[in-house]
Amino acid sequence: MIIAPSLLAANYARFRDEARRVQRARADWLHVDIMDGHFVPNLTFGPGIVAMLKRCTRLPLDVHLMCSRPETLLQPFREAGAWGLTVHVELDGKVPSLLWKIRSLGARVGLAVNPPTPISAVKPFLKLVDLVLVMTVNPGFGGQSFIEETVPKIQQVARWRRESGHDFRIQVDGGINYQTVRECAAAGADAIVSGTTLFRSRNLKAAVAKMRRIAEEAAAGAVATSRPAAEAAPDGALSAAG
Ligand code: DX5
Ligand code: ZN
Repeated sequence: MIIAPSLLAANYARFRDEARRVQRARADWLHVDIMDGHFVPNLTFGPGIVAMLKRCTRLPLDVHLMCSRPETLLQPFREAGAWGLTVHVELDGKVPSLLWKIRSLGARVGLAVNPPTPISAVKPFLKLVDLVLVMTVNPGFGGQSFIEETVPKIQQVARWRRESGHDFRIQVDGGINYQTVRECAAAGADAIVSGTTLFRSRNLKAAVAKMRRIAEEAAAGAVATSRPAAEAAPDGALSAAG
């Protein structure tokens, strides 16, 4: 179970210390949100911040590009030290070349899907990715509320993973706290991004350990009960199993 604190919720006045604190907290990845003010109504960090983070921590830098033209950014972020690069399936016709470019750069290939987008949009790319990011909020800001309707999308992509044998991670991102992580992990998520809940805790190490324990217990419980997966309708929307 991967726990990836989201830098968006960190103390911007102390990024170097925050990156070191995340590493000491035994998190697995550091999630870095790149926003261009166009794909989402917010603006965040450039390759220079990733280069600084790379000097501060050994943690893999999981870079989430909420950008309309990531094709111009993939190489600069990879050269700055990005380990994973995730782009959005909403970029439609550009997706195949973006995934190919990320792979050619030697980075971990991630594909994100926003809450309003049907999960069927990612199905053609499952054999090309190392990670599917099911957004559990509409991207752009930290501290938002979890969107329950995204849980069936996690279940559906987990079902496709089981059926296909493809070995990709299922990541969730947005509004993940000690309650919502439980249902996401039970649905099949195995990479957890959390900003507010983790960075607002007094003890980040204890918070990371608590979130990992809850997620692992929920995932194990789901396997143990091996509840019949809900039947998926053609568009990937789920109807409860009869
Ligand atoms: C939202 C970002 C998320 C966000 C998560 O657009 O992609 O990574 O920072 O933060 P919380 O956990 O506060 O929702
Ligand atoms: Zn993110």
